Amino acid sequence: MSESDHGETNRRDFLYIATGAAGVVAVGGSVWPLVSQMQPNEREKAAGAPVEIDLSAIEAGQLITVVWRGAPYFIRKLTESEIKAAEDAGQAEFRDFQPADERIAAPEGGSKEWTIVAANCTHLGCIPTKIDTGFEGWICPCHGSKFDVTGRVTKGPAPINLPLPPFAFADADRLIIGADKA
Ligand code: FES
Repeated sequence: MSESDHGETNRRDFLYIATGAAGVVAVGGSVWPLVSQMQPNEREKAAGAPVEIDLSAIEAGQLITVVWRGAPYFIRKLTESEIKAAEDAGQAEFRDFQPADERIAAPEGGSKEWTIVAANCTHLGCIPTKIDTGFEGWICPCHGSKFDVTGRVTKGPAPINLPLPPFAFADADRLIIGADKA
């Protein structure tokens, strides 16, 4: 992959989405002017409301970060090799073992290929950085904790996995964070 490809990937990886039921999607920091124009009461409502995310443009291997209730969440569409690596990994690889298929989500009738996790490290709350080793998916720059592509801690001081938020799929292309599972 060329350096310009990396740049393109990085830009895609940091789509930040802050949205309510209307499903507003923004790239980079352009969402913040929208948020700042809201009146305090509307902002407060938006901060607590479920967040709807359009998944249709997210490619396998891509990560986006969304904000719900003021906290960041990762949404990562796994590649086939990442899914296989997560499923094949033995229990001994993990500090807080949980089967991969309990952490990889799918819309009804769709493929299990989505990791949806809190984006704050469970050590001291830093935001881990995406890595692409096939198995390990994030490294925390603060004290070196590593997480696999499903957010399970593999190394470092983080005591537990990246938590899964409440979420539901409205359909194949729409995810709602903050909604109870159907
Ligand atoms: S905050 Fe992530 S390893 Fe310390």
